[in-house]
Amino acid sequence: MSTAAVQPASSTRTQVAIVGGGPAGLMLSHLLHLANIDSVVVDNRAAETIETTHRAGILERDSVRLLVDSGVDRVLRDGHRHEGIDLRFGGVSHRIDFEGLVGASCWLYPQTDVFIDLHARRTADGGDLRYGIGETEVVDVEHSPRIRYADADGVHHEIVADLVIGSDGSRSICRDLVPHPTRYFREYPFAWFGILTESAPSAPELIYTRSERGFALVSQRTESVQRLYFQCEPTEDPSAWSDDRIWAELQARLAGEDGFRLNEGPVIERTVLPFRSFVQTPMRHGRLLLAGDAAHTVPPTGAKGLNLALADVRVLAETIERAVNKKDDAALDTYTERALARVWKAQHFSYWMTSMLHRLEGASDFDEQRQLGELASIVGSQAGSTYLAEGYTGWPQR
Ligand code: DHB
Repeated sequence: MSTAAVQPASSTRTQVAIVGGGPAGLMLSHLLHLANIDSVVVDNRAAETIETTHRAGILERDSVRLLVDSGVDRVLRDGHRHEGIDLRFGGVSHRIDFEGLVGASCWLYPQTDVFIDLHARRTADGGDLRYGIGETEVVDVEHSPRIRYADADGVHHEIVADLVIGSDGSRSICRDLVPHPTRYFREYPFAWFGILTESAPSAPELIYTRSERGFALVSQRTESVQRLYFQCEPTEDPSAWSDDRIWAELQARLAGEDGFRLNEGPVIERTVLPFRSFVQTPMRHGRLLLAGDAAHTVPPTGAKGLNLALADVRVLAETIERAVNKKDDAALDTYTERALARVWKAQHFSYWMTSMLHRLEGASDFDEQRQLGELASIVGSQAGSTYLAEGYTGWPQR
């Protein structure tokens, strides 16, 4: 039954209703709170589900700055600053020195920790966060937005807001409320097999590897847990891979004349990650604004997803502040253009890193040599390496 037909048991008035309580939605709610703007966050997932769903682990410089400047600074104690990455191909590693090239670093700090920190902070600040709800509907986004939903006991509620934000991820319900959007979409003919393993980091920084057998990425989580990925078929069945088979594949992709070996240990999680690029524009319709994966998805190479969402939210908080405090709705008109300028750079960067490092089924000998030529150009040229360093650590905010 549509919730529209049901008289709600409660009606809450707020300035900004936020659909999606992942890191982007919570960060927005937090920034608005600091600007004395009240919000309500709803999410159909349980907070524990978000907390335990493993996602990427790299924060750009300005993502860390946004957290720290807004008073959420555990990343400085528990995160790890990485001043570069290795690009590995032909069995040889080449370091890209971010600090030396662009004077910036990135931070290894898992998305789950960003969520935990923001959730704790919003809770401590008395934020209105409603997880585990169902039957969510967003109505009348042109004039007077309302969210209707049923709580875990099936009781219906309503939230009446001046603005509604769709930060509800790649399966967004909010994005479909924008009439006649333009949608850009690209599928890739491969995926990533991601594992968590109980073993110490194999290298001090991340290693992005191109091998004849396909891409592999060596990342980390803690002193005793590593996060590793390797290119696979989109239809790959994680349960078909024993620990031994996974380690044999990873070791083969990382092998080289320097004798590099990964530290092995029990595999404690295995998942297949989809690969796609997606952008929807405009990111605003009436009193609805979209942020993060609801409006755009990038392939995981380069870990831009969360960083882009946080960049959206920073612009959005500023935009909303102007719209609310100065009663200047024209501010809302600038959001799509400001957000998309960064989105398309990140789309290109993620696509470029992906295409440079992955094996394409049916690639000709020419294609393979050209790919190696591209990698050699990047690591052999200060300009090439600087371009990578700039994109990886994040473009300056506008
Ligand atoms: C991680 C994921 C990425 O997609 C990436 O490019 C780097 C790191 C990670 O999960 O650690």
